[in-house]
Amino acid sequence: MNFNFTEEQEMIRQAARDFAQRELIKDVIERDEKAIFPTQHVKMLKELGFLGMMVDPAYGGGGMDTLSYVLAMEEISKVDSSVAVIMSVHNSLVCYGIEKWGTEEQKEKYLKIMASGEKIGAFLLSEPEAGSDATSQRTMAEDKGDHYLVNGTKNWITNANCGEIYILIAQTHPEKKHHGINAFIVDKETTGISLAPHEDKMGMRSSDTHSVMFSDVKIPKENRIGEDGFGFKFAMKILEGGRIGIAAQALGIAGGALERSIQYSKERKAFGKLISQHQAIAFKLSDMAVKIEAGKNFTYKAAWLKDEGQQYGVAGAMAKQYCADMAMEVTTDAVQIHGGYGYVKEYHVERLMREAKLTQIYEGTSEIQKIVISRALLKD
Ligand code: CAA
Repeated sequence: MNFNFTEEQEMIRQAARDFAQRELIKDVIERDEKAIFPTQHVKMLKELGFLGMMVDPAYGGGGMDTLSYVLAMEEISKVDSSVAVIMSVHNSLVCYGIEKWGTEEQKEKYLKIMASGEKIGAFLLSEPEAGSDATSQRTMAEDKGDHYLVNGTKNWITNANCGEIYILIAQTHPEKKHHGINAFIVDKETTGISLAPHEDKMGMRSSDTHSVMFSDVKIPKENRIGEDGFGFKFAMKILEGGRIGIAAQALGIAGGALERSIQYSKERKAFGKLISQHQAIAFKLSDMAVKIEAGKNFTYKAAWLKDEGQQYGVAGAMAKQYCADMAMEVTTDAVQIHGGYGYVKEYHVERLMREAKLTQIYEGTSEIQKIVISRALLKD
């Protein structure tokens, strides 16, 4: 096996690192504290070619592989996961979903403007009563002949406000249960769509998260993705790739916490020597590094499988579960290493810990990943 990055992958990783360490770091604490949306940084993502980075150049994308995307996500998440999640939902859920399953007309109309970063995408699956239990969709998309009429509410929607193109999952034939669910491309400006106020979150506070309400929203028939009833499978397939992005995010959060802990332990003295010279700290750093290295192997392998055209659902679920849980452990250790300083905002690690928590929850909780993995193990 070849564990070396290509020259291009290394360049992308370095570009993301420079962007994070030079630009994102400025004011990240204030953005988090005041929940300020990172408008300028999203523009920079566009300039860097990170929005639509995996889309085929024929549609104006960067044509990069999943591993490059993972490396960029990882470096950005070391500093600001709010920016990383905007990029993740746009790339691995919305752009990927339309590129892989959209019609040529849908790609011309919607993918091109997203691949260039001109418009941002959002993915609307979760509902007040359909989070983990994604089959229980209550949002209705009634078939009215030449259009669908949508009524319902979606919850916890990342990019709900900055996003202009939505992928909406809704129920058309309740009697068919999940086989009656459809997926649609929806222009946010369509009459009847409204947003609830911004969610006041524990972490990733500057990414925009809202509930989205649909009241008699007309969606043209040609905006349905795939055959009638394809929506649930479509959502599940998309989430398989999305989970690799969240694994990379968790990996970055843990990596950021380790980098800060190494730096701090070489500056801070206790009992007459640097704390890095105490084994209690050195061993903790070693444990953190070992866990991160394992997470890299899970995540890079899942990305590689996807790029090779092989099955990656279970590998992605393993990467997501492991990295999210690991990021929670590593950031907790980072706070411990920093002692009292770890508990205040200036040293960043308390924020990384809050961000790690979300990676255990969204795009499928750690428990959901265990369902995916164990079902694959137990399948006849
Ligand atoms: N690919 C294709 N089809 C799949 C699939 C996959 N990966 N997973 C399931 N399916 C199919 C099954 O084959 C089955 O089809 P048939 O009935 O035709 O055989 C159908 O989907 C139903 O599958 P299950 O019986 O396994 O369904 P379930 O109700 O037991 O749920 C689940 C499975 C894995 C728990 C799923 O509901 C799930 O992943 N839930 C979590 C949802 C989630 O991640 N939500 C996050 C929201 S998005 C987000 O967070 C984005 C953001 O803003 C950051």
